[in-house]
Amino acid sequence: MLLADDVATHHPVLSDNPYQPHLARIVRIEKMVENTQVFTLRFLDEHLVRSFRHQPGQFIMLSIPGTGEMPISISSSPTRPEVLELCVRRVGRVTSALYRMRTNDVVGVRGPYGNGYPMQEIAGNDLLLAAGGLGMAPLRSLLWYALDRRNQFNNITLMYGSKRPEDMLFRDELVALVDRADINCLLTVDADPSGTWKNHVGLLPTLFDHARIDAARTYAAVCGPPVVYKFILQRLLNLGFPKNRILMSLERRMKCGVGKCGHCSIGYKYTCLHGPIFTYWDAINLPEMI
Ligand SMILES: Cc1cc2nc3c(=O)[nH]c(=O)nc-3n(C[C@H](O)[C@H](O)[C@H](O)COP(=O)(O)OP(=O)(O)OC[C@H]3O[C@@H](n4cnc5c(N)ncnc54)[C@H](O)[C@@H]3O)c2cc1C
Ligand code: FES
Repeated sequence: MLLADDVATHHPVLSDNPYQPHLARIVRIEKMVENTQVFTLRFLDEHLVRSFRHQPGQFIMLSIPGTGEMPISISSSPTRPEVLELCVRRVGRVTSALYRMRTNDVVGVRGPYGNGYPMQEIAGNDLLLAAGGLGMAPLRSLLWYALDRRNQFNNITLMYGSKRPEDMLFRDELVALVDRADINCLLTVDADPSGTWKNHVGLLPTLFDHARIDAARTYAAVCGPPVVYKFILQRLLNLGFPKNRILMSLERRMKCGVGKCGHCSIGYKYTCLHGPIFTYWDAINLPEMI
């Protein structure tokens, strides 16, 4: 079972003023694919390095001095503390400012925010992770949490798809999992123009043909662009998944991150507070959710 201190408290580490960012140094920048990089951060305050706790699925508000702030999922697992890994795609103003930064530059961090995956509930069950494209960013935290605490889970299956091999995030790390006996790691690409890809070729849902999923004892964590939800949710429902065992990570534009400004509301829920992880049951019961 999980120990009490395994689970994030949901109280931001920055308790006095929730809007006050803490300074963190960029200690590593790694290019993943075109326009997507992993930034590794370490708090300047050593006390925070030791005390920061998060749950897989939570996010931080990352600020760039003089530019602005944005929500970014924590891609590293809480089982590997001391640094935070953020997988960021360059799309606009703040992400571009982050891309201009170099190793040793300092950014602001507040959080962690959001509910994260219900790890205590998932423990003891099978776990299916299904991601497309950038959806691997939040799921990677869950993946390594489950692998680092392998005895807390039964069968683990990862299904991940990208357009081409060169678009696959964390590719080397994930390809290395394919031969591991304690996870069924299924990787696919829509197309392999270079002919060098040694895993599956085909759309993400075709990976179900290579997996043995027992819907009655599995939690499914799904993340990706809308098309991923459309087809994966249908497959999960056809397999008989209970709606409260399908976990979706939903993004909305955010400002405060702490349930105050209303920017991220969907119906009567705030994505930053009640999400970003929602069950499929939540989703179909909230107007405008999907
Ligand atoms: C909970 C949460 C977790 C996130 N995790 C990640 C992550 O791990 N990695 C990552 O790369 N991005 C993540 N995002 C998205 C990220 O916050 C946005 O890409 C970022 O705020 C864009 O800022 P910008 O100033 O560069 O872009 P802007 O200049 O503000 O916008 C550029 C384009 O991106 C679109 N956009 C901006 N924000 C969002 C959003 N939240 N959802 C959809 N479209 C948006 C705009 O409509 C516009 O078309 C997450 C968002 C949320 C809400
Ligand atoms: S971002 Fe302000 S309420 Fe969610």
